[in-house]
Amino acid sequence: MLTPEQIELAREFSPLPEPPADPTNAVYEDLDAALLGQALFFDTRFSSNGEVSCATCHEPALGFGDGRKLAKGVAHHPRHSMTLWNVAYNRWFFWDGRKDSLWSQALGPLEDAREHGSSRLEIVHALADAPELVRAYTEVFGAFPNVSDSSRFPAAGRPVAEQPRHPHQVAWDTMSADDQRTVNRVFTNFGKLLAAYQRQLVSRRAPFDVFVEGLADNDPEKLAALSPSAQRGFTLFAGKAACHICHDGPTFSDLEFHSNRVATGEGVDPGRALGVLQLKVDPFNGASEFADDGGARATRKLQITPRGWHIPGEFKTPSLRNVAVTAPYMHEGQIATLAEVVHFYSTLEGAAPPDPKGEKLITAVQLTDAEQADLIAFLESLTDESLPAELRAAPAPADNATR
Ligand code: HEC
Ligand code: HEC
Repeated sequence: MLTPEQIELAREFSPLPEPPADPTNAVYEDLDAALLGQALFFDTRFSSNGEVSCATCHEPALGFGDGRKLAKGVAHHPRHSMTLWNVAYNRWFFWDGRKDSLWSQALGPLEDAREHGSSRLEIVHALADAPELVRAYTEVFGAFPNVSDSSRFPAAGRPVAEQPRHPHQVAWDTMSADDQRTVNRVFTNFGKLLAAYQRQLVSRRAPFDVFVEGLADNDPEKLAALSPSAQRGFTLFAGKAACHICHDGPTFSDLEFHSNRVATGEGVDPGRALGVLQLKVDPFNGASEFADDGGARATRKLQITPRGWHIPGEFKTPSLRNVAVTAPYMHEGQIATLAEVVHFYSTLEGAAPPDPKGEKLITAVQLTDAEQADLIAFLESLTDESLPAELRAAPAPADNATR
């Protein structure tokens, strides 16, 4: 049984409220936008080899991850694919937080040579070539621009800051500023559609949530949802093991950046220290003309995020909801199982040395074998994959004859 204090604490983790509003995306709650976004999410036509979609690395049956250590799209990626469960609750996106909205995040993989390997001009043309998608786009955003004049809208192209002579950059430079803006508008709308879909990937009725409800209404059936071992695991999580220092609140993440001292592979991944610099100069950040709230939200959010504040090696605290179905773990997929994660925090075996300038939040919490088993049982009680089946696959093609 939990003490009254522990019961109070449990309420800080459940229930998970509705995802926060996103005023930077005018269509974030639009169901037509979500349905079209869902079709785009599973569509391989927006990749350079015609084989990669978002679902390649965010497979619904694999916890919206890919089960791989490191991601692979058109080419190999140096980081582990993140789960998309409860992604709409995030403040910052990617392991290093280099994006500040869900719609702007989606633009990254499309133009990343290792993921979709495409470019915004190819995306806009691929859309223009698919009448059923243009029809659905028009219903959400109004007219789709005419991009058929190839002297104004080259077949492929995007800004490539680091390579001024890249053919994509050269093609982009031939365009007028107005035509570039037209392409950027459709491209950012593409991201807003994907965001509207992903916002629905919510998981908030895990056995732990049922148990916390049971604490409130004293319903023995609900209280039985959490085994005695998992209950002990919770008291460790928010007690002796001090996981809640970072994995705090109803998403089980403080949504900010820390080092948990997990050792990384070759090379140095600066994590948030670089991500925050990239975010400030991102042409699609929340302060850009493409944010539908006129930049109101981002100005505050970006201003309170100073440059050079983060030390290298900090990554976003992942949510722990559905963590039992999203192995392997960490930004490079360094750890294969939950048992190994718990063993790591318990002993810090193989940990990277602490950065002398860094936080001092991680210490070996030294759990006994029985305590480790309890903590694992608790983490396993955070699973809820009851999302309706029709949201886990490409939508059924609309029957045009009956529309
Ligand atoms: C090649 C595999 C791959 C493809 C394809 C891919 N992703 Fe990802 N996704 C990743 C990886 C890897 C990360 C983490 C990358 C990083 O931190 O630099 C990620 C991160 C994310 C995140 C951030 C989650 C968070 O909590 O911050 C979202 C959202 C996301 N992807 C959505 C998408 C969408 C939408 C698409 C399709 C347009 C897509 N991904 C295509 C591998 C992929
Ligand atoms: C100092 C903050 C902090 C503390 C304390 C902490 N974590 Fe973490 N945790 C993180 C960060 C940051 C990551 C991601 C690290 C990375 O990828 O480099 C992480 C990753 C994880 C992951 C992997 C999730 C995934 O999707 O890859 C699990 C599981 C986890 N932590 C569980 C725990 C448990 C259990 C405890 C308590 C024993 C704990 N954490 C304590 C910050 C913390």
